[in-house]
Amino acid sequence: MENQSLRLKLRVWRQASSQAKGAFETYELAAVPVHASFLEMMDLLNEQLIGEGKEPVAFDHDCREGICGMCSLYINGRAHGPQRGTTTCQLHMRHFQDGETITVEPFRQRPSRCSKTLPLTDLPLTEYNKQEVM
Ligand code: FES
Repeated sequence: MENQSLRLKLRVWRQASSQAKGAFETYELAAVPVHASFLEMMDLLNEQLIGEGKEPVAFDHDCREGICGMCSLYINGRAHGPQRGTTTCQLHMRHFQDGETITVEPFRQRPSRCSKTLPLTDLPLTEYNKQEVM
């Protein structure tokens, strides 16, 4: 690949808590390696924000190997981004263009109800995990 790094503009949804009003904030990254994963790019953003004395962007992840599904982000309006069948942590920046603006939002999901078998609830997973198992 001719250009080995990307200049990017990121529009990131920021919200202090579930009760707080959120808004998009825009950040610029000057040199994102094309071989970096999307989460590695988010790490670069957070390093930049911390260096500027700002709050880093909180996002979920665990394995970073495409196994657990924790890296749920909406990227440019699509779950896990533009690469079909690819988790966010396995999405690489070579799928984006130099100078592109990328919008990053929390995962969108409707509450799920299930009366039998699977433990689907209306609670966020973090609240569900706090419940006692009978
Ligand atoms: S962090 Fe586990 S699938 Fe992405």
